[in-house]
Amino acid sequence: MNKFDFKGRVAIVTGAARGLGLVITERLLDGGAAVSMWDMDRAGLDAEARRLGAKGKIHTAVVDVVDELQVNSATKAALAYLASPGRCAGAGNIRSRNGAR
Ligand SMILES: NC(=O)c1ccc[n+]([C@@H]2O[C@H](COP(=O)([O-])OP(=O)(O)OC[C@H]3O[C@@H](n4cnc5c(N)ncnc54)[C@H](O)[C@@H]3O)[C@@H](O)[C@H]2O)c1
Repeated sequence: MNKFDFKGRVAIVTGAARGLGLVITERLLDGGAAVSMWDMDRAGLDAEARRLGAKGKIHTAVVDVVDELQVNSATKAALAYLASPGRCAGAGNIRSRNGAR
């Protein structure tokens, strides 16, 4: 599998507890990024962060991405834990509260 070089990068991945977001998270970690995993599913986040823990530095946040206050607060927490601001890359997937994709 191709490996990308994300060393020194910080990524925020939404919908990271499963599916595409989880796959993206693992690829970023494999490439050397530190990753903040965001999802509404606390149990899923905890389980996957434990499973992936040996691959790199991980931060988790329970966030509903349609809520601006939650997003702002989680962004601050992620950057405080993982990096200095200005070295952040975002990747992920979002589903709105009404289920539309
Ligand atoms: N799976 C595919 O083949 C595919 C292809 C093209 C596009 N997409 C799109 O990519 C996105 C993800 O697909 P998937 O298959 O990984 O979905 P999934 O349902 O398996 O996972 C989505 C994750 O996002 C989380 N989530 C949903 N709404 C959220 C919110 N408001 N805030 C925070 N977390 C939230 C869920 O808890 C879940 O863990 C969707 O928008 C989908 O339409 C998927």
